[in-house]
Amino acid sequence: MQTSQKYTEAKLQNGFATKAIRSGYIPGPELSHSEPIFLTSAYHYENADYAAELYRGEIPGNVYTRIQNPTTDIFEKRIASLEGAEAGLATSSGMSAISLTLLHLLSAGDHIVAAQEVYGGSNQLLRVSLPKFGITTTFVKGENLSEWEAAITPATKIIFFETPTNPTLTLVDIRKVCEIAKAKGILTIVDNTIAAAALQNPIALGVDIVIHSATKYIDGQGRAIGGVICGKSEIINQIRAISLRNFGSCLSPFDAWIFLKGLETLELRMEKHSANALAIAEFLSTYPRVKKVNYPFLSSHPQYELAKSQQKAGSGLLSFEVENLATGRNLIDSVKLISLVGNLGDTKTIIGHPASTSHQQLSVADAAASGITPGLIRLSVGLESVEDLIADLTQALG
Ligand SMILES: Cc1ncc(COP(=O)(O)O)c(C=O)c1O
Repeated sequence: MQTSQKYTEAKLQNGFATKAIRSGYIPGPELSHSEPIFLTSAYHYENADYAAELYRGEIPGNVYTRIQNPTTDIFEKRIASLEGAEAGLATSSGMSAISLTLLHLLSAGDHIVAAQEVYGGSNQLLRVSLPKFGITTTFVKGENLSEWEAAITPATKIIFFETPTNPTLTLVDIRKVCEIAKAKGILTIVDNTIAAAALQNPIALGVDIVIHSATKYIDGQGRAIGGVICGKSEIINQIRAISLRNFGSCLSPFDAWIFLKGLETLELRMEKHSANALAIAEFLSTYPRVKKVNYPFLSSHPQYELAKSQQKAGSGLLSFEVENLATGRNLIDSVKLISLVGNLGDTKTIIGHPASTSHQQLSVADAAASGITPGLIRLSVGLESVEDLIADLTQALG
């Protein structure tokens, strides 16, 4: 059998959905229509010279699955094409994508400026783990541009933020923060997990490196943990050759295949997640016991114009504030359809209480600075019939 020549070019792969379904895959001799799963740790080396050249990086080829794998490679190429990046690198989790990138790019004495509203795990990485290696971070209010500029020091090597943020849905003006960073020669890294590539492409807005927790919308069905880093080939190749090889936080090829299948429906799912979330955000804004709703595509949201200028739609995540901790806990205990689990981006709607779960490691002051109030409820709106979700919330709030 021969590799089909018909599929060796990507000429017609222009639209997002086309790329999400087809890019990165050229059928091998088996002509498999679905992308094959290469569940192998190692690869045959033709002879001693070939092996030595491979290990020296002088010729392309598979060395060992900690470093590259043909199934993972398709996933990496596909997500890179969706983000408009030259290359992608898959990792074992979203947190490993963030930590691997930072540990690769930084040394003791280097400094990061980060948005204080980033996901609790990223916050703890910056506050607790990286200082052990002499890497320090100044946190700023992400929406306040003057704070970004003021926090930069001669040691600042990286600007890191997430937009929209989990769980307060705060936005950072990507174009403006990138302008500030570029003027000072600082690299920008954005966690694009919540907009999930289908709704926002930070590289087109000036960002250097985009990171995802693939666990969330890229999988979309709550089955696997993984992450991905997208950026210029030079940086990605170095992270692979040095830090992925040394730290070893590679993705399982089976999970890479799950994420590939997730990408195929990403655009469709993000449209429906966003439509359902907007309907629920509108419903909650009229509900007397709800003090505040955080959803940037609500026209009443203070960052609505910014949201429209950098995102196609609002995504499935929203949060809202009820009177106090007791009301919040009562609400979570009273839902009958919506799940209480520690994840987001699933087809199933999920409710959570950040202050007592994902953000409980933050001190009271840090939690307050990140907008995590005791009455804050996070809702990852899924793909169920929205009327059923509103009915569940109505009975639980009532
Ligand atoms: C925005 C964001 N980034 C990164 C992560 C970490 O991803 P993972 O759980 O895949 O390590 C999460 C997890 O919730 C997240 O919400």
